[in-house]
Amino acid sequence: MMQRRYWLYAAVTIFFSCKTFQKNNNPAVSIDAYNYGIQKKITAKNGAVVSAHPLASKVGVEILKMGGNAIDAAIATQLALAVVYPQAGNLGGGGFLVAKLSDGKEIAIDYREMAPGKAHRDMYIDSAGEARTDKSQDGHLAGGVPGTVAGLFESAKYGNLSFDKLIQPAIDLAEKGFVIGKREAGGLNLLQEEWKQYNTVIPVFVKENGWKEGDTLVQTDLANTLKRIKEKGAAGFYEGETAKLIVEEMQRGGGIITYQDLKNYKAKMRGPHVFHYKGYKIIGMPMPSSGGLLLHQMMKMIEDKNIAAMGFHSPQSVQLMTEAERRAYADRAEYMGDADFYKVPVKMLGDETYLQERMRTYDSTKATPSNMIKPGILLRAESEETTHLSVLDKEGNAVAVTTTLNNSYGSRTVIGGAGFILNDEMDDFSIKPGVPNMYGAIGGEANAIAAGKRMLSSMTPTIVLKDDKPFIVTGTPGGTTIPTSVFQTIINIIEFNMSTEDAVYTPKFHHQWLPDTLQIEKGFPQNVTDVLRKKGYNFKKRSGIGRTEVIKVLPDGKFEAVADNRGDDDAEGW
Ligand code: GLY
Repeated sequence: MMQRRYWLYAAVTIFFSCKTFQKNNNPAVSIDAYNYGIQKKITAKNGAVVSAHPLASKVGVEILKMGGNAIDAAIATQLALAVVYPQAGNLGGGGFLVAKLSDGKEIAIDYREMAPGKAHRDMYIDSAGEARTDKSQDGHLAGGVPGTVAGLFESAKYGNLSFDKLIQPAIDLAEKGFVIGKREAGGLNLLQEEWKQYNTVIPVFVKENGWKEGDTLVQTDLANTLKRIKEKGAAGFYEGETAKLIVEEMQRGGGIITYQDLKNYKAKMRGPHVFHYKGYKIIGMPMPSSGGLLLHQMMKMIEDKNIAAMGFHSPQSVQLMTEAERRAYADRAEYMGDADFYKVPVKMLGDETYLQERMRTYDSTKATPSNMIKPGILLRAESEETTHLSVLDKEGNAVAVTTTLNNSYGSRTVIGGAGFILNDEMDDFSIKPGVPNMYGAIGGEANAIAAGKRMLSSMTPTIVLKDDKPFIVTGTPGGTTIPTSVFQTIINIIEFNMSTEDAVYTPKFHHQWLPDTLQIEKGFPQNVTDVLRKKGYNFKKRSGIGRTEVIKVLPDGKFEAVADNRGDDDAEGW
């Protein structure tokens, strides 16, 4: 059985009720934030939500039960994650939403963070010419202008319920507190010194004797920020008291986000990145995420190779996928960035002839060293901590959302008096050509810093359609490993015919061109590494890759939701 249930705190059971939702005569939502378990899999017929935290998934399903659609549930789940999952859930970061709506519309909403007006190309290069990744990764200067709140309001245009209903569960969770699990306690404890170092006001995450499983985390400042958003909409964040708290924090800590930056921030509706693979239609995120295009490149590079016959985790299939990954990531480094600022040759990079040409150097008898692979010559000019949630509802709305603070707990700077963590997304720009970011990714002109530009992302919220209907809704955190995890999860299901759990839980691998290393998770089969080592591959064992969340539609129309077992991720449904 994939279902795992444990009780975090059994001594007391204190229920709190979220506001009563009047619409559809529904009763009040009751979520027990002090006594809850984790569920890894569920099959449901009316709707399903899978996210990084059980309380957030439960909030999402309650919203569905009240007559909310998948967009409403995704919004409420994100808001709950901003409270119960401070590692990556956020108000101070950004994200992407991809949806296939029941009326047939396919949408992509970009609420990626934006470089502040005072940002410039060399802002992280010191007088000795050295790239200061300490400044791009931690503290006030690491933060881009947050996009999440604008994105939630842009998303709400497609929902059924009013925003105050969607935000109330998050307010309650912040104000009344919730019991934390072992992983959260460990994460907060690990950063006790950094919470002090990078903050001008000591945040609620600092605890003298350390956190332990079963402690209650109350976030009063965050609750007040959420209440201002409930009352004033996006202006409750980008203007007024919250904006004042952000700007004052910047002034105290040497950050550069201004009132004007906040006021200028807009979420952008974009046309999703769409491609086809063997009869499936795949809807992904366009620039400024590399995710949709990388997935497209990798899948099309293997499409004509009969990978199913090679078998799952065979040396042949792993080698083929690795070589596709390597080539796609070489293109990422050269060509991909915010397309509003840099002409990204999306069409050419996804062109079938171009991709076949890319694979002409593929040799199944040996590795193609990365120094032999340059970004493709175009035929014509032209902490890993992030979090993903998938939602499907009974009307057929499918929503995939990935949001981020960049690495775990972002910049580690909490906005004094406002209670939310600022992202460290500026590190996703190429801060100096050839200097790797925290994920080891390099870049150049396409992803150079410029005021108002959005940093290149790897987030890959994805919907796979079969017969034009949602079939798989998926995504994962994991920095640059995101597109390769999504690639492998989809191939595991549609080519290797694996169960959803196996597709998610089996060890993953990752190649990103540079460094020229095949990263493998614990449990990756030794016989495969033995064969591939002889062909010239270098391996690096590493901690878990991603936390992939999948909802798959079964032949009988029911939804099978599977939460990754690499974390406290949780699947709920009804
Ligand atoms: N910060 C991780 C990403 O956007 O790819």
